[in-house]
Amino acid sequence: MELRGNFTSRIGFILAAAGSAVGLGNIWRFPYLAGQNGGAAFLLIYLIFIFLLCFPVLVGEIAIGRSAGRDAYGSYSLLGGKRWGYLGIFGILAGIFILSFYNVVAGWAFGYFLEISFGNLLGEPDFGKFFGNYVNDISDNLWFSLGFMVITALIVSRGIQKGVEAANKIMMPALYTILILLILYSLTLPNAWAGVRFYLVPELNEINSQTIYDGLKQAFFSLSLGMGCLITYGSYVGKTQNIIKSAAIISVADAMVAFLAGFMIFPMVFSQNISPTEGPALVFIVLPDVFRDMGPLLGRIIGGSFFLLLCFAALTSTISLLEVPTTYVVDQLKFRRTRVVWFLALLIFILGLPTMFSQGMIPALNKLPFYLNRDWLSFVSDMCDISLTVGGCLMCIFIVRQWKIHNMDAELVNGNPGYMNSFMRKYLHVMITWVCPVLLGGLSVLIIDRYFGLGVFF
Ligand code: TRP
Repeated sequence: MELRGNFTSRIGFILAAAGSAVGLGNIWRFPYLAGQNGGAAFLLIYLIFIFLLCFPVLVGEIAIGRSAGRDAYGSYSLLGGKRWGYLGIFGILAGIFILSFYNVVAGWAFGYFLEISFGNLLGEPDFGKFFGNYVNDISDNLWFSLGFMVITALIVSRGIQKGVEAANKIMMPALYTILILLILYSLTLPNAWAGVRFYLVPELNEINSQTIYDGLKQAFFSLSLGMGCLITYGSYVGKTQNIIKSAAIISVADAMVAFLAGFMIFPMVFSQNISPTEGPALVFIVLPDVFRDMGPLLGRIIGGSFFLLLCFAALTSTISLLEVPTTYVVDQLKFRRTRVVWFLALLIFILGLPTMFSQGMIPALNKLPFYLNRDWLSFVSDMCDISLTVGGCLMCIFIVRQWKIHNMDAELVNGNPGYMNSFMRKYLHVMITWVCPVLLGGLSVLIIDRYFGLGVFF
């Protein structure tokens, strides 16, 4: 175990786990899903899911990881036998696929950062057209996502302390600072308060099954749950740390960034009189309009900062996504970390190629046949979303039926002597035994039905 290393401090782990959680999911996906799902109504559902359903799963994952001290596969198989190990493998594969498309979107953000700061993006007449051509133009994309993967691999190859922890300690505070400055600016825009109202005053009749599915998948994705990422990070946490407290801080830090991202974006969107329902292109099409209106110099500075923020957020997440299979191979096969990292980075980069080609270049990837019925990027991302909620449900079943909940308790007492008599313990028991598995299982089935238009339930 000596060789694996550990996070040096509580704050090191919290920043790394919060860095994993805070990502494109918060700043790119959360605002566009909120925009499509009625703004405040979505925010409400999302927050309920984060604190009610996701928090217990988060605690469970970290406890499993710290107790076993291994990678996702190793932890499940150590505590539950080889059969449960497959759940770890399933999660590791999901993580590999998430990173394959995530890295491509991160590459777009990286490209936009360069094009706005140093290029002439703000001089473009039509940002919608520009974005369409941009994601289609493989020559640029290839380099930007390759660049992003290389930076990720460089950090991960330096190990947990010098790489993962050190990078997060710099980037997370930078990210919060940029975000706050951008919010202050956006609140000064004309019509900003219409955006604030859309975002903060819920219209309860906006809540429907779509809001609930999107809220759930977003909450899971956003906290990096359900695929063993936190088992992996948890395996590097010292026994004196209070897991419950750390998990609470991580959840708040993550929800806070999503909340703040909306607070920054909706005033901007409304100040431009643009519809918030634009979808995945929201930050790439709508925001450049806002930046252009600021004038050439300010636009460059603020627009550049925004996309730099997006890159930082994405990078702390890609690091965690690459760490999961890396820890797996290092723990199981005892290969040298550096080699493993570069090999995996190359493999995942190649797996990301279909995502790049699916934005128009190759029509077959742009519209997959039959029930799949969407482009490759959406397909992979939908499959990953489903695997996260299914993974979370199975994790609860694992804790209750295999590992046994008193073993989880025994792990949580380390660093938290008052735990045994706390209300939190009762709460976690009820949630992990009943509420989480039932709701996650049921909702996963409904989501699968909806995604593939099977029509079993609708
Ligand atoms: N949570 C990150 C985001 O919101 C993405 C992410 C990183 C992730 N690691 C993960 C998602 C593990 C699911 C599982 O952008």
